Amino acid sequence: MMIAVPRESAEGETRVAATPETVKKFIALGAQVAVESGAGLSASIADADYAAVGARVGDAASVLAGAQIVLGVQGPDPTHLTGVAPGAWVVAGLDPFGQRARIDAYAAAGLEALAMEFMPRITRAQSMDILSSQSNLAGYKAVVDAAGVYGRAFPMMMTAAGTISAAKAFVMGVGVAGLQAIATARRLGAQVSATDVRSATKEQIQSLGAKPIFVESVAGIEGEGSGGYATEMSEDYQKAQAELVSGHIAKQDIVITTALIPGRAAPRLISDAQIASMKPGSVIFDLAVSQGGNVEGSVADRIVERHGVKIMGWTNTAARLPADASALFSRNLYNFLSAFWDKEKGAPVLDEEIGGAIRLTQGGAVVHPRLLA
Ligand code: NAI
Repeated sequence: MMIAVPRESAEGETRVAATPETVKKFIALGAQVAVESGAGLSASIADADYAAVGARVGDAASVLAGAQIVLGVQGPDPTHLTGVAPGAWVVAGLDPFGQRARIDAYAAAGLEALAMEFMPRITRAQSMDILSSQSNLAGYKAVVDAAGVYGRAFPMMMTAAGTISAAKAFVMGVGVAGLQAIATARRLGAQVSATDVRSATKEQIQSLGAKPIFVESVAGIEGEGSGGYATEMSEDYQKAQAELVSGHIAKQDIVITTALIPGRAAPRLISDAQIASMKPGSVIFDLAVSQGGNVEGSVADRIVERHGVKIMGWTNTAARLPADASALFSRNLYNFLSAFWDKEKGAPVLDEEIGGAIRLTQGGAVVHPRLLA
């Protein structure tokens, strides 16, 4: 079994899909691993570190030649994959809806594309879930970056020159990223509150020492849909939520928004009028900016100032922590492939529950129901 790790080609992508730790483990399973020279540099991993654990390091063509599995953080350019073994697997975060033409090209090339973001949210797949591992880091980084541009301190400080009051932080959307944002803002000393449409999050917010802010007045408020994800809320709910948030947001210094609904544009949570009600110098970090944004006027990869409030958000937040993000992403890939490793065949053999959920292309065609619909 030959596993290739090409250098990521997408702009701004700093992560790498295998670390010396996972290369070593793949080799222990009996695989050969080839890593493109420079693949780990932006994550602070030198070619020599890969070579030291037994990887072959070379140029793209030599690394991909004959590979049966190609690992990626993002999907590799299909035109670069000439030379891989027939039917080779491409295992990466493939952005199936955003990169549809690329998926079609994998199919046309006879490759089997496995989209790691479609990993089902079942207990045994938790350690394989790239969305969780990367969202967790993104939630942390959002708070740290917001703190970096905020012109005040987070914690209350009592000094000889007088007292500084604690920053008030509000987290909207309490999934994986939101929970880590709450924990991080608390560690920095902020007074934290949070909201979500899923009632199960109320207890999680409280257990982290933050205050839940929830719409109670609308019947049927439960927003939990399948797989633990949110569903789109009724108009009545959205109106009640906007009113509740309007009153609350005006008093906040830091707002972190993380709300997403699978397969849809991110819900709009903060309007321009609400921004105008905030104190000058406040900071809003929109973690959903690349999916349409939760905040009116947020622009990916820029810090925009409106009504004296700084609004920011990165396209690829996890890539701003390249070393940790690579370590976790690589383990997700290893945990996935090793769980299905067939020792006799010396190759992974997927079951239907997980294989069927993540396989986008097979036998020259696109096969995933969500892409055929
Ligand atoms: P996500 O990234 O899809 O969405 C972020 C958050 O925004 C969610 O909590 C969602 O409820 C919330 N949201 C959506 N619309 C909103 C609105 N209008 N107002 C306020 N909040 C809104 O969610 P994520 O982080 O992927 O987690 C979703 C759930 O899945 C969580 O309960 C998490 O614990 C669970 N999960 C389970 C896993 C497993 O069992 N393998 C792995 C990862 C997460």
